[in-house]
Amino acid sequence: MKAARDSARARLFDFEVVSNERVAEDAWCMVFTSGVAGLLAPGQFVEVSVPGDASQVLRVPLSFSKADAAADAVRIEYAVVGDGTRRLSLMRRGDASTLVGPCGNGWWLPGGEGRSLLVAGGIGLPPVLAAAEMLTRAGLPFDAVVGAQRGSKLVGVDVDLLRGAASGDPEGRVVVCTDDGSLGRAGFTTDAMADLLAERIYETVFACGPTVMMAGVSRLAEEASVACQVSLERMMGCGFGACSCCNVAMRDGSSRSCCMDGPVFDAREVAW
Ligand SMILES: Cc1cc2nc3c(=O)[nH]c(=O)nc-3n(C[C@H](O)[C@H](O)[C@H](O)COP(=O)(O)OP(=O)(O)OC[C@H]3O[C@@H](n4cnc5c(N)ncnc54)[C@H](O)[C@@H]3O)c2cc1C
Ligand code: FES
Repeated sequence: MKAARDSARARLFDFEVVSNERVAEDAWCMVFTSGVAGLLAPGQFVEVSVPGDASQVLRVPLSFSKADAAADAVRIEYAVVGDGTRRLSLMRRGDASTLVGPCGNGWWLPGGEGRSLLVAGGIGLPPVLAAAEMLTRAGLPFDAVVGAQRGSKLVGVDVDLLRGAASGDPEGRVVVCTDDGSLGRAGFTTDAMADLLAERIYETVFACGPTVMMAGVSRLAEEASVACQVSLERMMGCGFGACSCCNVAMRDGSSRSCCMDGPVFDAREVAW
């Protein structure tokens, strides 16, 4: 049940860029080689040191969509939102740096063999792709809802990967939606999710996206009595549980660290 959570201890690795290109409006995809590839479990993340960091200590936490142990290769997708991710987008083939990983606790497999529902919003897609791969390897069926503000923000190759992963299952569905209706169905991922929940029975929901989306996904799953795992994003400082800046408030009044206890949490335990 918790197989994906039996993870290796995080440590420092070198990495070298294989490719790094813009794949959608404000979104880049990087493939790099690193010894961390064979240790990453779906839903975990890496803390990347990007050359040019004046502080010399800040690292950018990033999920991955694919880790290929045989090729030592890792694929990440990221949005350029500030200085760290801007410098990351400037790295070219052959450029090298370091990262810390594997970090945190990732997705865990559902207890039964029922269908899962994956919900990805915006740049929340990478860990959801990793969940799709985890389910595919375990031979478990899933549907997926992928949303973005507009079509130009959707990473097409990711949606294709998801469709590819779902294609082994004749019943599997992938619903693409955009807030403005410029691609796929018009509306939020939660609208598509509500329709699917009314039609089909799911065992577990896996979700990553903006916090407001994950709160909505969590509420819908709870109303339908479906288990739900969410991959949360928090500002991170140290990345190893020492600074408390990534705390997540829990329903029982406690707080947990996103970097060590997460980023994946049981949605029912989170105080939304
Ligand atoms: C576990 C984890 C996994 C992540 N995976 C991905 C991923 O796969 N792809 C991706 O594009 N991004 C991901 N992020 C978010 C990414 O880490 C931030 O966008 C990045 O650190 C911003 O750094 P910056 O120096 O470019 O921007 P900054 O100058 O540090 O910040 C720019 C803006 O982004 C906001 N921001 C900064 N860090 C975060 C954060 N950690 N969470 C939410 N908002 C933030 C700031 O409030 C500010 O408004 C992840 C974050 C976490 C915690
Ligand atoms: S980033 Fe410091 S405790 Fe999580």
